[in-house]
Amino acid sequence: MVKQSEQSYVLVTGGTGYIGSHTVLSLLENGYMVVVVDNLVNSEVESLRRVEKILGLDWEIPFYNIDLLEYEKLDALFKKYNFHHVIHFAALKAVGESVEIPLRYYENNFCGTLNLLKAMQANMVNNIVFSSSATVYKYIDGSRFKEDSPLGCTSPYGRTKLFMESVITDLYQTTVGTESEMNVVFLRYFNPVGAHPSGLMGEDPGQLPNNLMPYVAKVAVGKLDKVHVFGSDYDTRDGTGVRDYIHIMDLARAHVYSLDKIKQGCGLRIYNIGSGCGYSVLEMIKAMENACGHKIPFVVDKRRAGDVDTIVCDPSLAEADLKFTVQYTLDDICKDLWRWQQLNPDGYSKENRDHV
Ligand code: NAD
Ligand code: WQD
Repeated sequence: MVKQSEQSYVLVTGGTGYIGSHTVLSLLENGYMVVVVDNLVNSEVESLRRVEKILGLDWEIPFYNIDLLEYEKLDALFKKYNFHHVIHFAALKAVGESVEIPLRYYENNFCGTLNLLKAMQANMVNNIVFSSSATVYKYIDGSRFKEDSPLGCTSPYGRTKLFMESVITDLYQTTVGTESEMNVVFLRYFNPVGAHPSGLMGEDPGQLPNNLMPYVAKVAVGKLDKVHVFGSDYDTRDGTGVRDYIHIMDLARAHVYSLDKIKQGCGLRIYNIGSGCGYSVLEMIKAMENACGHKIPFVVDKRRAGDVDTIVCDPSLAEADLKFTVQYTLDDICKDLWRWQQLNPDGYSKENRDHV
């Protein structure tokens, strides 16, 4: 089979989604060529049009509407392109929903990843960056998570991440010392937030966001009435939950650094990707008020099931080994999020596209 060209590509699964699309932008900025696969279950291809606009491209980013559950289509794509690396974002990601419909999550995230690994193996593609999550860590009061902290999760979503780390590790072990030795990077993201500084790209979570910052942004722009603060009796400085928020463009850059690491022949690496700083819910609301210049109404509600006091990473391994540190501040996060939310109050929806 003759490949489309000898040009080497990065296959980005889930590349129209929030983290995927910002990473596509960073990859292109850093000289990588990409092919995006997504079934658009939680995103719109408009995100790639925005990447093209920001970069002033006069060509379209190659996009294929393929569900990872469709092995034959995936395999055909691997035969068409010369992939050197895969960055695997595609997954369903709502923790609460995963408790309600676990089989869908297991099938989508688990079987989708198996198909991808099978296609990689069949087509001799040995390099993968896998989107993992802070959720794989077992919660231990007060400690900052290190990559070798105990693992264990409490939701079907979390288990799909933990299980896929094990599956990829098992596959990696079979290749050690062979000609097709794999290079694998697991990035355990903490809380990705914010938007591209242009205001053209950001997170598009639909009407009722599950996560704090997209919800705060929708209240700030007047699309929702008030923020519901889930509990004020946590063991934290102001009683509200503390998390490790990271700007989406910092997170995107971590993927570029991971490919650079893979090129050195890194074997299997695991990195926490966060800032190492924790902010409470009330601090995040306050920071967003500063960015938008007006008060953001909130009420204190009861705790959300499964939430804990504090989740903050120790980022020192990524700093030492990947040379990755965050560059954007909390102010940047809120200013960029506010710019995106103001310019795109309905996300990437069609009505909004003529205005940007
Ligand atoms: P997202 O929903 O915006 O992006 C995921 C993309 O995958 C979507 O575009 C969706 O349409 C696509 N997709 C899902 N199932 C698919 C399938 N079977 N075939 C093809 N495409 C499929 O989510 P995101 O926030 O960009 O997350 C990207 C990755 O990072 C996910 O793996 C997620 O679990 C992980 N992650 C996210 C966070 C977070 O807070 N956003 C934190 C830690 C880890
Ligand atoms: C942050 C803080 C809430 C919403 C989730 C997943 C995790 C990872 C990242 C994928 C908490 C509080 C929230 C609201 C609130 N995703 N909150 N009102 O729970 O840290 O992490 O996203 O891998 O697996 O669990 O993020 O943004 O939902 O919550 O008070 O409307 O904000 O209680 O303290 P979380 P979040």
